[in-house]
Amino acid sequence: MKTIGVLTSGGDAPGMNAAIRAVVRAGCENGFRVMGIRRGYNGLMYGDMYEMNLRSVSNIINRGGTILYSARSPEFKTEEGMQKAIDVCKEMDMQGVVVIGGDGSFRGARDLSLRGVPCVGVPGTIDNDIACSDYTIGYDTAMNTVMEMVDRLRDTSESHDRCSVVEVMGRRAGYIALNSGIACGATTILIPEVEFDFEKDVVERMRRTQKTGKRHFIIIVAEGIGGVDEMAKRIQEETGVESRATVLGHVQRGGSPTVRDRVAGSKMGYKAVELLKAGIGNRVVAMQKDALVDYDIFEALNMKKSIDLDLYKLAHEISI
Ligand code: ADP
Ligand code: F6P
Repeated sequence: MKTIGVLTSGGDAPGMNAAIRAVVRAGCENGFRVMGIRRGYNGLMYGDMYEMNLRSVSNIINRGGTILYSARSPEFKTEEGMQKAIDVCKEMDMQGVVVIGGDGSFRGARDLSLRGVPCVGVPGTIDNDIACSDYTIGYDTAMNTVMEMVDRLRDTSESHDRCSVVEVMGRRAGYIALNSGIACGATTILIPEVEFDFEKDVVERMRRTQKTGKRHFIIIVAEGIGGVDEMAKRIQEETGVESRATVLGHVQRGGSPTVRDRVAGSKMGYKAVELLKAGIGNRVVAMQKDALVDYDIFEALNMKKSIDLDLYKLAHEISI
């Protein structure tokens, strides 16, 4: 019986459990022995893994986080760490590993593949910042969480005629900020992909809408821009509108996954096993215009992704 492994690495994302479930179920049904590797590459280096069966993944499709736990593992990036992982893979006669995570995790998967352990990457991150894929597992749930939280902030901002300046996650990318900003009716959305002028794009826009009777405001700021405390102070000084800063933080990573993330996780996990079954490694599963495709990891890591600038323009035109 051939053995494959599955691990989750980097920041956890809602829907990773759906992907694990799909890998385990598809793996078992296709005659593989499936090892669940704990805490990302740490588990691979130290042999922290267990054999999973059809029932090991019961009742997890609805759960946020990852039942395999996740970790950032600096040791794995060293030559010694990588060798430890290869030795464990040889010992376990591992014929392939499904790596659910982001770009960093895929770099590790590429290195393992180059050293003879075929890996397949599955994009799992709330940031949606993986270039080869239109969609990453966890993104939709995170945006819905942001929307729910900002709706709550809107209630209190409206009651007090205040401005809420909200920082949302996304690492260096503005996807969460842009789309949740539209969904929350933010007056201004600031993202790293678009240059902005604080006076013109924040203060003047607020003044203009104040003249039309607007009294409370939502400003969404991507974490790649940051500085929400300072912004809130400046807004208060320059517009006279009492302002509060909120950093939403890790609440955005938790919670029960949405339909979209459960389905995306299931499809991508299943596809990863199909590839390993066909003896194909060093690939990343990706979503392109709703179709499931796969790329060479090296090629995938060199791809570029751009944000929808028309959507950004639209957001600002309709939120005035
Ligand atoms: P993500 O996968 O979400 O981008 P990280 O960038 O933290 O998260 O990467 C997760 C893990 O992948 C790291 O802790 C490390 O073990 C491994 N990794 C990251 N970059 C590399 C690299 N250049 N080479 C080998 N492994 C890497
Ligand atoms: O990649 C997911 C993410 O939540 C980013 O949005 C954020 O920049 C980062 O991870 C936070 O990492 P940590 O959980 O290590 O604080």
